[in-house]
Amino acid sequence: MSNDGVNAGRRRFLVAATSVVGAAGAVGAAVPFVGSWFPSAKAKAAGAPVRVNISKIEPGQQMVAEWRGQPVFIVRRTDEALANLDKLTDTVADPRSEASVQPAYVDPQVRSIKPEVLIVVGLCTHLGCAPSFRPEVAAADLGADWLGGYFCPCHGSKYDMAGRVYKGQPAPLNLPVPPHTYETDSVVIIGVDQESA
Ligand code: FES
Repeated sequence: MSNDGVNAGRRRFLVAATSVVGAAGAVGAAVPFVGSWFPSAKAKAAGAPVRVNISKIEPGQQMVAEWRGQPVFIVRRTDEALANLDKLTDTVADPRSEASVQPAYVDPQVRSIKPEVLIVVGLCTHLGCAPSFRPEVAAADLGADWLGGYFCPCHGSKYDMAGRVYKGQPAPLNLPVPPHTYETDSVVIIGVDQESA
């Protein structure tokens, strides 16, 4: 019996996670790092909810929070990015997230409570690497028909701007949407379900 594949995947995730933390630090000047909002390390490991102020995220920009030791991508999507989701219904594998992980109170297609704010766990559903945020339409390395989304550097899985995986990728499912709720317009709590009306 061998765990080599699993271990290799784990190693890749750890390397990728390190670079995600680095990226979050790099935008710290523009977007205050969310570390000051975090509960203690012990509480985090136990899965405590994380409160994040998203007011400084500009349209088209992403910030990375951390919840249960996992990166959580928070994106303020542009109107154009939202409009493009409709065009990808036949291109993605699970357009309404029927097989993928997301709470029932999240819209099945845009995959968020507020249309413009996407919140997904930043781990590829193939082997757990951290996908790169690639919002630029028609990026040279991703093709003229690329409408923005995520690209996994490990084995090339592509996701759209709702974290929906393209058909025929190594990754089988959409990026998971974690439980979350809004405390105010600009403060989201990750790890707590929105109360049903
Ligand atoms: S981990 Fe394999 S494609 Fe992302």
